[in-house]
Amino acid sequence: MWKAITYLIFATAAHAAPPPPPATTDLANVNQFALQLLENTYAFQENFGTKNVAVSPLSLWSIFSLLAEGSSGDTFFELMGGLKLPRDLRRTQSLHMALNSLLQSGSQDVILKGQSAMFTDCSLEVHPEFCQAATAYNTDIYSVDASNTTKLAHDINYYVCIATDGLITNAVTPQALENLRMVLVDALYFKASWTYQFDPSQTKEGSFYDSLGKQIGTVNLMYQKAPHSLAYPPQIEAQVLEMTYGKTSQYSMLILVPLNGIPVKKLLNNLATNSLDWIDELREAGSSTDVDCLIPRFKISNKLDMITPLQYSGIHSIFDASKAQLPGVSDTPLYVSKTLQTVEVEVTEEGTTAASSTVVGLENRILGQRFEANREFVFLIIERSVNVILFAGVYGQPSVV
Ligand SMILES: *[C@@H]1O[C@H](CO)[C@@H](O)[C@H](O)[C@H]1NC(C)=O
Repeated sequence: MWKAITYLIFATAAHAAPPPPPATTDLANVNQFALQLLENTYAFQENFGTKNVAVSPLSLWSIFSLLAEGSSGDTFFELMGGLKLPRDLRRTQSLHMALNSLLQSGSQDVILKGQSAMFTDCSLEVHPEFCQAATAYNTDIYSVDASNTTKLAHDINYYVCIATDGLITNAVTPQALENLRMVLVDALYFKASWTYQFDPSQTKEGSFYDSLGKQIGTVNLMYQKAPHSLAYPPQIEAQVLEMTYGKTSQYSMLILVPLNGIPVKKLLNNLATNSLDWIDELREAGSSTDVDCLIPRFKISNKLDMITPLQYSGIHSIFDASKAQLPGVSDTPLYVSKTLQTVEVEVTEEGTTAASSTVVGLENRILGQRFEANREFVFLIIERSVNVILFAGVYGQPSVV
C-alpha cells in the first residue's frame, strides 16, 4: 500500500484559535505560501539527490512578513506577492497575532510553542517603527556586538536550544554570522502524542517503494487499526489519511500517498495549485470505520539554505546586495545574505516531535557600482589616442599564479 514517499504537513484544526480568528482567505494564503515553499524546496533539494525534505514555512513567513513592513519598491512588491500577504499591512499584523497565540498551546499531550528574536548590532540604528512592528509580532529584541561572531552564535544557539527543548543545539556557526548587522531568529517546537498510539510490538520491517513500484529500501512499519479519516480527493491525486494528536484532536498529521504512478513532484504541484478544500472533504468523508494503518517510523534532519526556494517563489531583490530596499528597517542600507533553516522531525509509535530554527541574517548593502571579474571575461589592450587594439584575449581557465 505504501508505494511512494510519504509526505507530511502539519494541519491545525479550524476551530482552534481563541483570539479573533483571522480571515480565512488570509490563512488560505499562508497555506498556499507553505505548499509552494514545500514544492520549491523539494525541487531544489532534488538537484542534490536529496529526497527527504522538511520545512518550517510559518517561521519564514513570519520573519519575511516582518521585513516586508520595513521594505519598499520591488522588494516590497515581491514580498507581498511571494508571501501572499494581504494588501493592508494591518491585516498581516492581526494575522500574525492570531497565529502567535495559536503557537502557544500547552497541554499534557500536546506542546506547541513558537518564539522569535531580533539580534541587532549595537552600532546599527534601527528605526523605532520597525522595533515596534517587531514587538507587535512578539519578537524579543537584543542589542549585541555582532562583530563577535563566536559570542553571537553562542547567544543564538542558546536561544534556539531553550525554545526547542534542546532538540536543536547548533542552529548557526560563527562563520555563518560573519559581516551580519542584524539577525532574525524564529524557533518552533511541537511535541504531541497520537490520539491512538501504535503498539511497538506490532512494528515490523517492511519494504518501501518509489512511484513506479520499485523497491528502494526497507523501513520499520508501525501498525494500528483505528478510526481515522481517509479519502481520495481526485484533484490532488493522492490517498489521504488524517491522524490526530492528543485527547482533544486539535492537531493532526495528514499523510498523502500519491496514487500509483503519480510522482511525488506531481502531488506537490497539485497541492501548491489547488485550494485546501480537500481537507474539508476528508473530514466530511468521516471516520466511521476502522482503518488498517501502516506508517513508517521515521526521522528527518534538515539543514537548508532557503534563499533559492524563496527565489523560486518570486522573492529576489531582498537577497540582492545591489537592489534590496529596506529603508524602514534602518537608514543603513541592508540586504538579506543568509536564510538558514534547521528542521528535525521524528515520528514514532507514541507520537511526533518536530522542531525548527530559522535564522535570517542582514548585511550591509554594497553602495555604488561594483565590478567583479570572477567569471569568464574578455580583455583588450589598446592605445588610447586612436583606440587601436594591441592585444586581445579571453580569460576563462582560472589558476593561481
Ligand atoms: C567575544 O565574546 C567573548 C564572551 O563575551 C569574549 O570572551 C571574547 O574575548 C570576545 N571576542 C572578541 C574578539 O572580542
